[in-house]
Amino acid sequence: MAILSIITAPDRRLKVKSQPVEAVDEKIRGILDDMLETMYQAPGIGLSAVQVGIPKCLITVDVSPDDEDNAPLYLVNPKIVAFSDEMESYNEGCLSLPDQFADLDRPGEVTVEYLDYDAQPQQLRADGLLSRCIQHEMDHLKGRLFVDHLSAVKRGMILRKLEKIRRQKVSA
Ligand code: NI
Repeated sequence: MAILSIITAPDRRLKVKSQPVEAVDEKIRGILDDMLETMYQAPGIGLSAVQVGIPKCLITVDVSPDDEDNAPLYLVNPKIVAFSDEMESYNEGCLSLPDQFADLDRPGEVTVEYLDYDAQPQQLRADGLLSRCIQHEMDHLKGRLFVDHLSAVKRGMILRKLEKIRRQKVSA
């Protein structure tokens, strides 16, 4: 396993649309292993492959509160098949937008279909943080970041801030 480097916005690679994988083989499982390790190390509760430069429909999630009780989920080719009308607000962040947060409305509950680590088809009904996290990661697969849900003004502020931080790091 390996720690992969997470791409931070603004970066065109984060806008790439991810492609479904044809088979959950050893190579894909290897990517999922690396993604999970990278996510835990960050630390974060969700990661999509496109954030580590691999535009494939792969997501890792773990919203369990402590690391003694890891409950990783691997979602391959996920598809949301149902969501609640009821919206919930949550202060969302992203490993690709370090230290940036914004309140965002999303459906409170979703049902998602996907292939798991063993290539088995699964259906999962999620609410709360898990639902939030899955929807956020699935946006990444479409080349969308949480800031794309905000007004152009708010988005611009956050992205300019990140650009500035990056420039400071490069010149330091
Ligand atoms: Ni994210």
